[in-house]
Amino acid sequence: MQVDLSVKPEVTSFFDPATNTISHVVKDPDSDACAVVDSVMDIDYAAGRITYDHADEIIAHIRARGLMLDWLIETHVHADHLSAAPYIQRALGGRIGIGRNITLVQDTFGKIFNEGTEFQRDGSQFDRLFEDGDSYRVGRLACRAIHTPGHTPACMTHVMGDAAFVGDTLFMPDGGSARADFPGGDAGQLWDSIQKVLALPDETRLFMCHDYGPNGRDIRWETTVGEERAHNIHIAGKTREEFIALRTARDATLAMPRLIIPSLQVNMRAGELPPPDDSGKRFLKVPIDGL
Ligand SMILES: [Fe+2]
Repeated sequence: MQVDLSVKPEVTSFFDPATNTISHVVKDPDSDACAVVDSVMDIDYAAGRITYDHADEIIAHIRARGLMLDWLIETHVHADHLSAAPYIQRALGGRIGIGRNITLVQDTFGKIFNEGTEFQRDGSQFDRLFEDGDSYRVGRLACRAIHTPGHTPACMTHVMGDAAFVGDTLFMPDGGSARADFPGGDAGQLWDSIQKVLALPDETRLFMCHDYGPNGRDIRWETTVGEERAHNIHIAGKTREEFIALRTARDATLAMPRLIIPSLQVNMRAGELPPPDDSGKRFLKVPIDGL
C-alpha cells in the first residue's frame, strides 16, 4: 500500500487509566479537520453509572483548537471499554465508521445477549462500514482502512498520512499482540494481519489502542513499523506457527476483560446504550455461562 510519509497529521492522545485505552485526535495538517479514533465512555460497573469525563476532555480539546470533527473511527468492537462515539457526535458532529464485518460481530453477540428483532444486525447503527482498502478524507488528509482481522473479525487499521492506527492488532514492541480468543478471533488471521501492517514503510508511525506498561515501564502508545518489525516480542524472529502456538497458549491463561459484558452490548450498537424497557429505564444484561 502507498503511504505518503510527507503528510504528517498532528496526533494528540488521551490515556484512560481505568481501561488502559488510548484515544487519539488526528488533525489534518492542511486544514482544521480532525478525526477521533477509539473514544471511551466511563462506567462504574458496580454502580451501573455512566459518566463522560474522558470524552469531555476530548470535546474540550477539539473546541479549544477550533477544529471540525469529520470522523469518529472505531478500530473494532472493543471488549474492554465502552465507546463514547455517539456522545461526542452529538456534541461535535462527524460520522461514525467501523469495519464491514461488524455485522458478524452483531450476529454473534446478538445471539449471546438474546437481543430481539429491534437490534439490527446490518451495521445500520454506524454511518459508514469500511471495506478493505476503502479510502476517505479527514479534511484534505487522505485516509485508508485496511482489514486486519484476528483479534476480532471487524478489526481495521486506519492509515492517515504517515500515521497508522492499529487498534488491537499490535501492542508496543514489548507488549506483543492482543488476544485472539474472542468469538470470531483467530491467531493465524492475526499473524497475517500483523504482516499487512508491517508491510507498510518502516518510518510509518504506529499508534496503539492499548498499553499496559509491561515490566513497570511508563505507558507509551507510539512506535514505528521498523521498531515493531525488529523488536516485537511476539513477532520478531518468529514463524507463523510459532506465533499461533504462543498466542493460543497465552490466551488460555487470560480471564475475560472486566468490562466485556457492558462493552459488547454498547459497542455493537455503535456506542449507544440498549433502548429503555417499558419502565423507561435502560438496562444491561449479564448472560449466565454465555461467554
Ligand atoms: Fe480490543
